[in-house]
Amino acid sequence: MTGNLSGQTVLITGAASGIGEAVALRFVKDGANVVALDRNADALAGLADRLGDRCAVLAGDCTEADICKQGVALALERFGKLDCVVANAGVYDWYKRIDRMEVADMQAAFEELFRINVLSTLLIARCSIEALRKSGGSLIVSCSNASFRAGGGGTLYTASKFALRGIVYQLAYEWAPDVRVNGVAPGGTITGLSGLDALESSSRRLDSENRTVEMVAKASPLKRAAEAEDHAGCYALLASRRDGKNLNGTILVSDGGLSSRMG
Ligand SMILES: NC(=O)c1ccc[n+]([C@@H]2O[C@H](COP(=O)([O-])OP(=O)(O)OC[C@H]3O[C@@H](n4cnc5c(N)ncnc54)[C@H](O)[C@@H]3O)[C@@H](O)[C@H]2O)c1
Repeated sequence: MTGNLSGQTVLITGAASGIGEAVALRFVKDGANVVALDRNADALAGLADRLGDRCAVLAGDCTEADICKQGVALALERFGKLDCVVANAGVYDWYKRIDRMEVADMQAAFEELFRINVLSTLLIARCSIEALRKSGGSLIVSCSNASFRAGGGGTLYTASKFALRGIVYQLAYEWAPDVRVNGVAPGGTITGLSGLDALESSSRRLDSENRTVEMVAKASPLKRAAEAEDHAGCYALLASRRDGKNLNGTILVSDGGLSSRMG
């Protein structure tokens, strides 16, 4: 295998669906071995079938420190090292305004959403730092257009994605020169991105909401809603030791130009 990521081992959270799955497929195509971590065991099994022995899977909840440690251990055991971690698992709040939630619901939604979007990123980063330092590797965080401005979600989602931007910048500063830390900020993308148990929206999926997909496409200067695969090259660039070696504290915006427009 002579791809740009040849010989790298990459651990991806939220790898069973959407953007994480597209990144796993692309990374294997580019020569990497992948450890796919997700709470959806059935979808993970399907990914493992497609990727064969270049992929190891771990079913579990990445908001649990033990699962994150197991993901790192699996990478080391199965492939001998860990070169890159993609902190990608995430959930959405469906634009729900906090002034339209009961106070108790807002607290529960905060705890659920920040646990998945923010805590899981900190945990996988913390659990992998030793292995990443050893390999001179990198961390890539799935941010969002909501990491930069209002309107990409509700207050809770936007706050969580701003927090991820802070994590990218701070870790890029603290972990240099040993480990590069970057992010990708997709705009609206047709995936199974789902809501929260606390807001009774966990069964809502973006890809089954035609109105949302149409709205996303209409708002984009490119007049289309992105597919998960459209972002995979951004992750591959950041992971690449050849092409990404000077990229640190960089968040690649992949939103079709949405955020470059006034008004
Ligand atoms: N789809 C979009 O429009 C969009 C836009 C910007 C950013 N993003 C971000 O991209 C990332 C991936 O989302 P997606 O759109 O591919 O959605 P998705 O639902 O298709 O994929 C997310 C995956 O994360 C997994 N997951 C969620 N919580 C988990 C947990 N606690 N433990 C383990 N796995 C867990 C899910 O099972 C799922 O497979 C998220 O961080 C999301 O915020 C998505």
